[in-house]
Amino acid sequence: MPLLATAEGVSQYLDRHIGREPGTKIQYGHPSPRFWQRRQPPLSEALAPVDAQRSLNFYVHIPFCPPTEPEACGFCLFAREDFRSYAHVEAYLADLYAELDRVAARLGRRTLKTLYFGGGTPNVLHEASIHEVFDRLHEKFDIPKSCETTFEGTPGLFTPGRLEALAAVGVNRISVGAQTLQSHLIAYSGRTQRHEHIQRTATFCREHGIHCSVDLITGWFEQTPADVVADIALLDDWGVDGIVNHPLTLGGDSAFARRKHELPPVEVTRDAFLGGRDALLARGFRADGYTDYCRSHLPPVQFLEMYRDVLHNDRVGIGYGANSLLSGTHAAPGHTYKNVVGREAYHARNATPAGAPADADASCIDAIFTFDAIDLRLIYVLKGLEGCPWLDATDYAREFGRDLARDFAPWWEALSARGWLAWNDGRPMLQGAGIFYTSEIQRCLSEPRNGVLRRAAGPQADMGLHADI
Ligand SMILES: C[S@@+](CC[C@H](N)C(=O)[O-])C[C@H]1O[C@@H](n2cnc3c(N)ncnc32)[C@H](O)[C@@H]1O
Ligand code: SF4
Repeated sequence: MPLLATAEGVSQYLDRHIGREPGTKIQYGHPSPRFWQRRQPPLSEALAPVDAQRSLNFYVHIPFCPPTEPEACGFCLFAREDFRSYAHVEAYLADLYAELDRVAARLGRRTLKTLYFGGGTPNVLHEASIHEVFDRLHEKFDIPKSCETTFEGTPGLFTPGRLEALAAVGVNRISVGAQTLQSHLIAYSGRTQRHEHIQRTATFCREHGIHCSVDLITGWFEQTPADVVADIALLDDWGVDGIVNHPLTLGGDSAFARRKHELPPVEVTRDAFLGGRDALLARGFRADGYTDYCRSHLPPVQFLEMYRDVLHNDRVGIGYGANSLLSGTHAAPGHTYKNVVGREAYHARNATPAGAPADADASCIDAIFTFDAIDLRLIYVLKGLEGCPWLDATDYAREFGRDLARDFAPWWEALSARGWLAWNDGRPMLQGAGIFYTSEIQRCLSEPRNGVLRRAAGPQADMGLHADI
């Protein structure tokens, strides 16, 4: 009998895997990029599953970041590079516009539900570039005021001038990557940022009706549970609307991963993470997911809903390293794909050799995974365990014509026995320490499918084509 066919087997799997890494979040969701196929389909194939009946969500990747020592803030695993010269940014934007032109030509003039600028560090863009990018996007899409438009960045680069430019182009959500407010902790990342950078951004947002969300990371060197609670208290006092508390993900060859032995034990990080959650709830924040909190009078963040409700949202990303997810239908499942990483590789996909006609069907894709029906079900379940919209047996039955309790019975039984899961009104919800271990639980739920994919991929799956994060 397969290991995960019984609650006992699930429990053994959890015992073996839990706590090996502190709360490693799965960046691309299911399935891991190590099972994606490395190929470059034409855009017509890539965008074929787009359904005009579903909401369209657009992502723009800006990879540049202020250089730090250690590199990449010591912990970052995103597709990014050090900012060296604004000429590089301008050259990148020219390539980005070329990709936008081709993608938009295929999508047609659609109305965007959400628009997200991520990175890297989008707020490296100068004010004139912010206006230019938005002009280009407005040429291609309808972007109503109701479109949740998020712009990410580091605290120090949210200068008054940039904030004015972002408000002027209609950005209505700002995500500030603070990571920690403790200066002795932030020093490990080599980042230079001050409290007033975050405070002035929060104040500007409040005065302009912009939602201000701040990212924290739990699990740093020397960090205590009290440090996390102190950060939350400050952010609450400054009036931010949302707080995202990520457990530190270690991966690849990051400086933090090399110094892993100096990091707090997983149990300390777990207690700090869960203590942070308690503090947020006590201060009146609502948990919209295991890492995401929002003031309870505000509506849920649409980006989160979109990110989790993949069956009813199409997500198209442009820029290097951008990820797209088009679930297709149950009868004809779609795919997820990721663009090439690196300025030169990206340029090569967007440049037209002198004298040659432009290829309107050229994509920037590096790797793609075509879903099977089981993948759509798994994604639905894994994302639903993160929350908002929460996993719900009635929705599951309507969507898939199946029984959620029966389909994953060994997992529900094993998790309930540990006190990590409880059914509330037809919803299996993680609780207690299970919340901290969300990503490990997700991995355990997808393990039987991953086993099939590993066998199909053969040795390639072990080459680590992409970090499994
Ligand atoms: C694209 S990044 C950053 C935005 C911006 N460049 C910054 O650093 O402020 C988005 C968020 O991912 C989170 N993040 C990045 N690397 C992480 C890691 N290794 N573990 C946990 N969270 C991470 C950080 O909280 C960060 O704010
Ligand atoms: S955390 Fe932000 S600023 Fe630091 S390397 Fe990652 S994307 Fe860049």
